[in-house]
Amino acid sequence: MKMEESLDTNTKVILAKRPEKVATSDCFEVISEALSPLAEGEVRVQVAYISVDAGTRTMLVGDGFHQQVGLGRTILAGGVGFVLESRAEGFEPGQAVRGALGAQTIATVSAKLIETVEPLPGHDLSIHLGALGASTGITAWIGVKCVAKPKDGDVFVVSAAAGAVGSIAGQIAKKQGARVIGIAGGERKKAFLTETLGFDAGIDYKAEDVTDQLKALAPEGVNVFFDNVGGSVMDAVLDVIAMRSKVVICGAISQYNQMDQVVGPSMYLRLAERQSIMEGFAYFHFPESIPAAKAELADWVSRGELVIAEEILEGIERYPEALGFMFEGGNLGKLMVRAK
Ligand SMILES: NC(=O)c1ccc[n+]([C@@H]2O[C@H](COP(=O)([O-])OP(=O)(O)OC[C@H]3O[C@@H](n4cnc5c(N)ncnc54)[C@H](OP(=O)(O)O)[C@@H]3O)[C@@H](O)[C@H]2O)c1
Repeated sequence: MKMEESLDTNTKVILAKRPEKVATSDCFEVISEALSPLAEGEVRVQVAYISVDAGTRTMLVGDGFHQQVGLGRTILAGGVGFVLESRAEGFEPGQAVRGALGAQTIATVSAKLIETVEPLPGHDLSIHLGALGASTGITAWIGVKCVAKPKDGDVFVVSAAAGAVGSIAGQIAKKQGARVIGIAGGERKKAFLTETLGFDAGIDYKAEDVTDQLKALAPEGVNVFFDNVGGSVMDAVLDVIAMRSKVVICGAISQYNQMDQVVGPSMYLRLAERQSIMEGFAYFHFPESIPAAKAELADWVSRGELVIAEEILEGIERYPEALGFMFEGGNLGKLMVRAK
């Protein structure tokens, strides 16, 4: 798309049909539309990056915990970009903003849905969706510091450990003094956990028996399990939890293609046997903690204390492919699409 075209035409990804299982590319359509005049209270944003999130799959069902995408409507997604035009107080052309911009190249949104962000020296704007983003860094920070609360010396296990939330959650747990074991799919990801993220150990759940590996790596049991995956991985870890341990449900991506038939943990009696608890959370249930999360994450990033992993696919038309890529386990770190 040429730049001059992009400023008077919006290209967006809409939901063409509801997925039955996997959200295949034919569930989406990429269409262009002329921009309409801006209404009072609205801001027009040239989207730079679109966040690709596991939870988006649960928004395509038509009913559920998360806000739902209507048929023919723009796919809901977080984004960052620059203000092109504003009819809202506090927003000026050229400012960098973040918020619910949707999977599109030019978002026309209520000012209530966005906030200004400061470009961080040495970092691209994408950092505000990744390490500093609500569904990534902030989720990991709140999940670890407000919910999991690992103690010094605890064995902390995280699943989808090479992904957006998992890679940061594990790093924060290390900062809390925990011994961190990551579970991820494939040799490349397993190596990334220890060699790049600095975790104490990694398990490739596609090639290794997770329970056996954990028995060897943590003979006294797992004190905290930060789960992003659910299903068989959750069961494998439940089997080896320590006495008075905590299982934190951040998400359950293995179940998102079957939200009407979610399979629960068959090993849940280990909670009773080992006097343990399971607690779920959503980051937006902790609004009072978000300012502290933002400040500490920004501090770590500016000091170079967090390993930042981002994977970016080029072009709005690749958004459907990106979502599929994530569900196949293709991404290392935070997955985004550059809107162009
Ligand atoms: N509680 C909250 O407020 C909150 C907010 C944001 C996100 N979340 C949750 O956090 C989790 C991670 O989300 P994210 O956006 O950061 O994604 P991500 O971890 O960057 O990507 C998802 C990863 O999940 C793994 N995966 C995919 N399908 C799987 C399956 N069937 N079984 C096992 N693993 C599978 C893949 O890694 P492998 O190659 O390792 O399999 C994939 O790379 C999700 O469950 C999401 O819903 C929760």
